[in-house]
Amino acid sequence: MADITFSNPSYKDKTVYAVAGSHTETILKIAQENKIPLEFNCQDGECGTCVIKVTSLDKKTRMGGFLTEKEKVVLKNIGKLTKEELEQAEVGDVPPTWRLACQMIVRDEDILVEY
Ligand code: FES
Repeated sequence: MADITFSNPSYKDKTVYAVAGSHTETILKIAQENKIPLEFNCQDGECGTCVIKVTSLDKKTRMGGFLTEKEKVVLKNIGKLTKEELEQAEVGDVPPTWRLACQMIVRDEDILVEY
């Protein structure tokens, strides 16, 4: 189980409870189910509209789902993923701060999602 707190300067923070480990629940899907106005377009990891900043709230090592190949390309193209971060993600299994909401699968961790 995971608590996801969605935060945006224009809206009140909202924390939702998500079932982790289903491998189907993306952050975008959870946002939509909870009427959180997270912007999106393609829903397929190609446009970069749904970019989010993810921070751990329970101080465990960040998990997050693995970066998808599409995420790697888009995040690099929009300047949200450095070569070092990509290396850390691939070699050290350390997820980067910026993710795509339509690609990131929820894991069992409490996170802050800034959108
Ligand atoms: S909605 Fe297009 S990349 Fe997520």
